[in-house]
Amino acid sequence: MTTETKGTQQVQQASPEAELHLHQRGHIIQQPGTIRNLPIALDSAARLANSKSLNLLLADTIQLYHMYKKHHWQVAGHTFYQLHLLFDKHAEEQEALIDLIAERVQQLGDIALGMPSDVVKNTRVENPPQGAEEVPVMVDRLLEAHEIIIKAARELANQAEENGDYRTNDMMASEVLRANEMQVWFVGEHVVATPAVEAHNPNS
Ligand SMILES: [Fe+2]
Repeated sequence: MTTETKGTQQVQQASPEAELHLHQRGHIIQQPGTIRNLPIALDSAARLANSKSLNLLLADTIQLYHMYKKHHWQVAGHTFYQLHLLFDKHAEEQEALIDLIAERVQQLGDIALGMPSDVVKNTRVENPPQGAEEVPVMVDRLLEAHEIIIKAARELANQAEENGDYRTNDMMASEVLRANEMQVWFVGEHVVATPAVEAHNPNS
């Protein structure tokens, strides 16, 4: 144990085995798109095909999550309060899906890609502008993103059923499609032009 004198104070250094090993870098132990041998009785070609699709779906879902947060913050107008709350609820539900999808990639033996730079590269959802848009445009962008995700989830459900990955198939149907279709309903109802006060009377 060493003792340093700093001014009038004596500072005792901890023993070397108690010290943190800082400033470490090393080689990559697994690259994305390579498959580990996992004992889950599913061939590596099926696992790779599904993990690649899942990584694209992951990028789209992270993009949608951020669009919900953006719109949660930037929404304005007479529907502010309900949409502010609804957008945040949907963001939380998308965040849960992000974790499920990413962990499924790992369970298949691949590497989950979820850094912002991965999302920019992989997402199929159009990036919104930085500035605030009108509510119908916000809603429209969300609906378009949902449909891209829903279409990809249906395709992956079929692919996973055909290659015997029933867990991924189940996740698409019971988690991804269920949540996204429910959110489409709740968001979509905000761009239906029903009168707020006076009914349309075709006879008047
Ligand atoms: Fe908030």
